[in-house]
Amino acid sequence: MDDFPVGRASFDPPGPAVEQVWRHVIDLLDGERERIAGRTVSAPVDVRALRAAIGAYGFDRPAAPADVIDDVAELLRATTVHTTHPRYFGLFNPTPTLMGVVGETLAAAFNPQMAAWSHAPAAAEIEAHLLRFLGGRLGYPPGTVAGSFTSGGAEANLTAVLLALTRTWPEYGERGLRALPGRPVMYASAESHLAWLKIAHATGIGRDAVRLVPAGRDLRIDTGRLIEQVAADCADGDLPFLVVGTAGTTAAGVIDPLHALADLCRDSGLRLHVDAAYGGAAALSDRLRPALDGIGRADSITVDAHKWLSVPMGAGALLTTDAEGLAETFRVTTSYMPADVPDTVDPYTSSQQWSRRFMGLKLFLSLAVAGREGYAEQLERDADLADVLRERLAGTGWDILNDTPLPVVCFADPGTGTWEHHDALARKVVGGGRAWISPVRLDGRAALRACVISHRTTLQDVEELVRAANEARK
Ligand SMILES: Cc1ncc(COP(=O)(O)O)c(C=O)c1O
Repeated sequence: MDDFPVGRASFDPPGPAVEQVWRHVIDLLDGERERIAGRTVSAPVDVRALRAAIGAYGFDRPAAPADVIDDVAELLRATTVHTTHPRYFGLFNPTPTLMGVVGETLAAAFNPQMAAWSHAPAAAEIEAHLLRFLGGRLGYPPGTVAGSFTSGGAEANLTAVLLALTRTWPEYGERGLRALPGRPVMYASAESHLAWLKIAHATGIGRDAVRLVPAGRDLRIDTGRLIEQVAADCADGDLPFLVVGTAGTTAAGVIDPLHALADLCRDSGLRLHVDAAYGGAAALSDRLRPALDGIGRADSITVDAHKWLSVPMGAGALLTTDAEGLAETFRVTTSYMPADVPDTVDPYTSSQQWSRRFMGLKLFLSLAVAGREGYAEQLERDADLADVLRERLAGTGWDILNDTPLPVVCFADPGTGTWEHHDALARKVVGGGRAWISPVRLDGRAALRACVISHRTTLQDVEELVRAANEARK
């Protein structure tokens, strides 16, 4: 080995230079946090200039870490819709907690391999503890909670469908859909998140197996129409297997009638999944939790930590009381994975993912530092700010179209009801850079949608949004 080449010892620089990189990042992030509220929430993007700036990296020579970090930070600063801005009233992308960002960093640095329990005992047990905590708050009995962390809500919902297929038809796992005596069909509200279509595509049941049941005027699934559709499908020889309730619809934050769905599923032998990707966080607040009443009767539940629980993307969770079903769904043994340890579950045997990152740490640190009551306080504050927003909008002549205890406010200009008008209003507000909102269609009616989602949002930010919306309408 005497002629072994010396030179670069590893990817990383020597000790003092490592420290300089971290200091640089800390200063940069501190500056971002201090200055974000004074910047526009979003800005127009010159696609050509952006591609040219990125294309300048041919990776043909090394660059100084600080230079590259600054360069990328500037690209992000200039082009991103800033979900960390206090006036981002957008989709379910909250400003992440400080401890969430720290958790993400620690997870990346320790890089525990979450596939096998024996590779990452503390990480696996932290995630299991979090799942039990969330499941308990959602009404699952102690000692029954199983599940897995997922990349987000879409993967959690995919897991729910795989679990439901596996449990309904034990032969599905080995022999696939061709072993079934007919065509499986599932049900969700027309207001549900449309990842169901992609999931149906991926699982092989096909997109037309998803029955999008119309919602009533209140934007909740119409249970009468649901019952009729199930009966019609049975009469046609199709095989209903799963009903999905949404607890916090994407557009309007509305919660489906969970007890009614659970009763219907019990009476007709169907499985119930509740997609509480956004709304599930309400379970942490004693004041808001009653809105989710009945959720604990679901066979499985989706909750996204990267939505209203405010940790960085991506962290979702699938919760269930059916540990056995989950194990059957993802059952596999190999010679090359470390042998399982008694009384533990290898995460890769209860998840679609195999190697995966330690997603739960960011939630664990955030919860440990804020405490459950600290979280509850913040969630309730968001709900209160949304009440103020509704009041101010109604007081200045807007129609409020949705009724929900969650902080999603859908409002329409009674003067001109068209989509084009509301789309133009949203563009004006967003184009002005003072706030970010989106147009939305609810039960055929055009509206604007504002979600109070950032823990940085203040009453002044809400008032600024109302001013921006009113000026756009003038
Ligand atoms: C109700 C609901 N379910 C599922 C999802 C998908 O979650 P993700 O984007 O984390 O995959 C969303 C996303 O907004 C959602 O609103």
